[in-house]
This record gives sequence, structure tokens and C-alpha cells, in this order.
Amino acid sequence: MEERRGTWGSKLKFILAAAGSAIGLGNVWRFPTYTGLHGGAAFVLVYIIAVCIVGIPLLIAELTIGRHTQRNPVGAFKAISPGSKWFIVGYLGIITGVFILSYYSVIAGWVVGYVFVTASGSFKGGDEELIRRIFEVVTSNPYIPILLLFIVIAITTYIISRGVQKGIEGWTKVLMPLLFILLIGLAIRSLTLHGAFKGIQFYLSPDLSKIDSMVIIGAIGQALFSLSLGMGTMLTYGSYLSKKEDIFSSSLWVAVADAGVAFTAGLVIFPALFTIHGLSPEEGPSLIFKVLPVIFSKIPGGLIFGTAFFILLTIAAITSTISLLEVPTAYFVDEKKWKRWKSAILLGFISFLLGIPSALSMGGVKFLSSIPIIKIDFLSLMDIIWGNLSLIIGSLLIAIFVGWKWGVKNAVDEIESTGKKFALKNLWKVLIKFITPLAIIIILLNTVYNYFVK
Ligand code: PHE
Repeated sequence: MEERRGTWGSKLKFILAAAGSAIGLGNVWRFPTYTGLHGGAAFVLVYIIAVCIVGIPLLIAELTIGRHTQRNPVGAFKAISPGSKWFIVGYLGIITGVFILSYYSVIAGWVVGYVFVTASGSFKGGDEELIRRIFEVVTSNPYIPILLLFIVIAITTYIISRGVQKGIEGWTKVLMPLLFILLIGLAIRSLTLHGAFKGIQFYLSPDLSKIDSMVIIGAIGQALFSLSLGMGTMLTYGSYLSKKEDIFSSSLWVAVADAGVAFTAGLVIFPALFTIHGLSPEEGPSLIFKVLPVIFSKIPGGLIFGTAFFILLTIAAITSTISLLEVPTAYFVDEKKWKRWKSAILLGFISFLLGIPSALSMGGVKFLSSIPIIKIDFLSLMDIIWGNLSLIIGSLLIAIFVGWKWGVKNAVDEIESTGKKFALKNLWKVLIKFITPLAIIIILLNTVYNYFVK
């Protein structure tokens, strides 16, 4: 028997699930990591601009394609543009989803590990050297990260095999708001630490001379990654959206919630960071795992707050991993008529295997920890290829598809089919047709030039 595709229970439930996909390690781990690597406030500024001119217009575009076709990414392009090659964009999204899931789950695994480390009281006393060593123990051992990766993928696979309503919706409702409240509490503590001012300056006072093409491409990539765009996640979530829900207002809610969590995470990390000896903003993927424990060691009830924080971050990560796995799963269920559980288990297993090199790239295996010539770890390399470039290329193609192939008029008709007018439709049309693709093309060309020609 063919399984029903399922729909969201209500608009609120949809917003929460989409926000659940958007809000995750991208906000709490990746945003501070990139902000630290790319010069602080200058990056934040470009990021906000990128959310407005690239992120939100694309979010609307993906949701609209999804709701219109009620299909997975490959099926959606085939439905709107039969006989053309546009469905390849759908395949690109499916492959990207599996790859992002592979390394994302490694970091989610560290977070799970930190639940136990924090709960055991290991951060008491706030010895910075010890806190650094704990990160090494959790991540550079050859077995622990793989076991943690397995746990994350297994939970994700289980939830996805249960379907849209029972699986995805239930989790996100209560827990997202709780994470946000905890973040605000931690931000207050971090901002009141002795010496916090330097961090605030780094985070909020932009030095415009730091803006170069790497900052811009990083910021656009981060805006897309954080809003789960460019690989058909929001397209797929939109495909479970009933015809009566308003796409525009839902998009704004999701974007504001997402940016709000990322911004607050920065307010937690940077003030505290500058109070720690020998730690620089350019730490890379391990940044938050070295800074947060220091805060937890300095607040009353740090053990409870710290443990709660990592539990909530685990949940935020899982509401994102399920959206990553949902994209390829929807493809197999729709196009290949596979059973949901069978698709989920197969794809989960593949992602697990692909994740192993990333799990071993923080010291577990030397070669993977600093790849010769490029001198970065395998996990960061995966993030650059799949979490940045692939999403940017996917987004460019989706913008061109909606702006020029399907046409903005058809898209607006779909958005307004609820009977409600799309207030900013003219602005959106200009953005998705011209500004969004142009911004991406210029940046891509500039980067290629900088890397290969100069
Ligand atoms: N947006 C998620 C996060 O910020 C990650 C993600 C990227 C999820 C792409 C789905 C697709 O954590």
C-alpha cells in the first residue's frame, strides 16, 4: 500500500517545525565559529544583509515550489518543468542533505557527549586547561565520536521513520522556546563577566575594512545554512503545507526566530571568550565547546544549567538532522514508492558511514585532522563543500528557476491562492529575479578569481 505523504496539523505547527529545522547547530555552533573566523562584527553585519536579500526571498521561493507541487525536490522540478533538466537541482539537494547530515551529526554527537560531561561535574572549578583537555578526550578518541555519531543518526532515523506529524511536530513545540530562554539567561551572565567588553566590541562594533569576498561568501553561506536553504529542505517542508496557510508571514516568523537565536548565541560566546586566556576567536569548530563550559563553571547552578543547555542543544540539533534526512527520504517515498522506514534506515546508514571520516578528524586520525596541502580538518572541508558551496549553488539555481523558468507571476499566484494578498510582492519579485541571483553570482566569480586566477 502506498503511504500517504502527510500534512502539518496547523500553521503554528508548521512554523515550529520549519523553525526547528532552521534553528540548530547552525545558530549556536556554526554562527559563532564563522563570526570568530571572519572578523566578528563585520561578518555579523554582512550576515544580516544576506538574510534579508538572499535568505528570506529564497525561503519564500522554496516554500512556494513545495506547496504548489506537494512533492520532494526532484518530483517538484519535474512537475513544474517536465522534460527539462531542472530536476538535477533536486538531486543535488538530496546528495547535499546526506553529506551535511554526515558531519552535522558528528558535532551533534559532541553535544550529546557534553551532556554527560557537564552532568558529571567535570567543569567545576573552571580550570581552563582541563576544559580544553576534555574537548580533546571527547573528540580525538577513535571510538567515542563514532559512537556518538551513531546515537544521533539512530535517533534521527527513528523519528523520520515515524512520519511527518507523529515524528517531527511533537518534538519542536515546547523545546525550542525553552532553548531560547536558556540562551538569554546565559547571555546575561556572559555580558556581566569581568572583561566582557572586549568581546562585545569584537561582536558588535564592525571594522568595515575586514569585509572581503571571503567574509561575504561566508555570510551568504551562513544565511542559507541557517535557514536550511539551497537543498530543498524548505521546499520539502512546504510540500506538507496545506493550501490555506500563508507563506509570507510564516517565512518572516521563521527568519526572525532563526536570526534571533544566532544573535543571542553570539552574545553568549564572545563576551566570555575574551575572558579566557589563550583562546582566540579563530578557534574553529571547537570554539563553543571550549567557551561554554567556562561560563557554566562560573554561574551558580552551573551544573544544572549547563546540562540543561546541552540537552536543549541536542534537541535543537535533532530537529535539524531530521529535516536533513527528510529530504532524501521524501524522494524515495514519492518517486521510488519505498516504505518510509526502509528509506530512512538506508539513508541513515549511508550518512553514518559518510560521517566516520569527519568523526575521526579532530585528532582521531592524523591525516584527516590536517589534510596535506589544504591544511584543514576533514569536517571543516565537508562544511565548506556541502554546507557552503553546494547550498550557494543550489540557491542560485532555485532563484533562477523561480525568477525566470517557472516565473514570478506563477509563484505569486500560488502564494496568493490562499485568498490573502502578498503585501511585499513587488519587492520580492525584484529580489528573487535580479538581486538574489546577482549577489550570489558576483560573489562566486569573485571567489573563483581570488582562488584560481590571482
Ligand atoms: N539550519 C540548520 C541549522 O542551522 C542546518 C540545516 C542546513 C538543516 C540545511 C537543513 C538543511 O542547524
